[in-house]
Amino acid sequence: MSESWTRFSRELYLEVDVAAGRARGRRLALERALREAVRSGRLRAGTTLPSSRALASDLGLSRGTVVEVYAQLAAEGYLVTRPRSATAVAEVPPWAAAPAGPAARTGPPRHDLRPGRPDPSSFPRAAWLAALRQVLATAPAESVGYGDPRGHAELRTALAGYLGRVRGVRTTPDRLMVCSGFGHGLGLLCQVLRGLGDDVLAVEDPGLPALGQLAETAGLRAVPVSVDERGLRPDLPPDTRAVLVSPAHHYPLGSTLHPSRRAALVAWARRAGGLVVEDDYDAEFRYDRQPVGALQGLAPDHVAYGGTASKSLAPAVRLAWFALPTRIAGPVTDLRRVTDRHSPVLDQLALARLVSSGALDRHLRRMRMRYRRRRDHLVSLLGERVPRVRPVGTSAGLHVTLVLPEDGPTEAQVVAELVRRGVAVHGLAGHCRRPPPAQGIVVGYGAPAGHAYPHAVEALVSGLSELLHA
Ligand SMILES: Cc1ncc(COP(=O)(O)O)c(C=O)c1O
Repeated sequence: MSESWTRFSRELYLEVDVAAGRARGRRLALERALREAVRSGRLRAGTTLPSSRALASDLGLSRGTVVEVYAQLAAEGYLVTRPRSATAVAEVPPWAAAPAGPAARTGPPRHDLRPGRPDPSSFPRAAWLAALRQVLATAPAESVGYGDPRGHAELRTALAGYLGRVRGVRTTPDRLMVCSGFGHGLGLLCQVLRGLGDDVLAVEDPGLPALGQLAETAGLRAVPVSVDERGLRPDLPPDTRAVLVSPAHHYPLGSTLHPSRRAALVAWARRAGGLVVEDDYDAEFRYDRQPVGALQGLAPDHVAYGGTASKSLAPAVRLAWFALPTRIAGPVTDLRRVTDRHSPVLDQLALARLVSSGALDRHLRRMRMRYRRRRDHLVSLLGERVPRVRPVGTSAGLHVTLVLPEDGPTEAQVVAELVRRGVAVHGLAGHCRRPPPAQGIVVGYGAPAGHAYPHAVEALVSGLSELLHA
């Protein structure tokens, strides 16, 4: 009877049952363990494996045994071995080869016109790299320890100045909270509101569906309030104590909250002790005039103002900020401390440098011109070739909603036909909690990379023109 025991490797999690005294048995055991780890997907394509010397030493095997195992699995297509480089899991191991039949659709659409996305090719890589380099060269050692739950003081200070200058936000660094996306901050706020006894968040209808869902996840009821060309209608349900609104540029209809409604909303908040949650997601991009200032500037004690780097820079940056009324800044900070603690500090510092050096302003100036040209081009092309669709909303942001004619194909048919042509847009109905006010599509002209934009717009316009027999 052969004695057997399990050996572990530290660099590569692998348990190998090694039968003592039988070299072939050991080799087969290692081969089986490694093959199984690749087959199961635990070791993913491209993963590099330890050198044969290191693995042999960990497992108490001879180096020759490991070399043979690597060679065998390479011959079977599971691994790739190259002279003078590490052995790695093959890019397309045999178990992962595409099945016969129609390939599953993966990757981004051919013509990406999904709303809410900035041009990914315009991310200011050089400026970000310079900022990050500077941060790594100069930040004190404490910067890589646990940080302040509200965010690094350097970023909060830079943001307090920046938001005051460009958006008329009235805040101080200690009432700012940096979070990982607007949605993240909204989720925290909703949890705090729930904890304080609120049970309703009034949301714009149409609106971004994920935001209402976040409120529901926190235990609040998301109650829809209608929106028209003057923005959110001011008749809030009677039991409302908190409302989410995008006053500068409504998503997705593009309206700007009318001054009388801004005043009514602030008066309501003061009267009812209510909270307005201001979603200022794309206010950097207004093309026809200066953007209206943030609502928060009118009533800092009643408005929680949120902005994000997702449109001005890129969604992957995952940084956003909230200027909070004093009464909820404390509870939100306490919640943050015991949840994810804070957002990544080195990235916060890089963003702070971008803001304070003026690099963000320069980037936004460039992008404003680019998006404005795209929008003007798209709207004028539609006017010429598809006059039956009606673009709505102010000249701002990264998207435009096109209202479809009542006597044409349905919204679902239009979206499906565009998808068939490789054009991705969103239907208006998907943004509505109640029956939609009209049929329409939401087109994100910001999303395509520079070189792809003309093709994407041509595919959209020719698709719509055929569909609507313009
Ligand atoms: C209306 C609206 N608000 C907020 C956001 C920002 O989300 P985040 O900062 O979580 O990326 C988006 C992004 O799509 C949005 O469309």
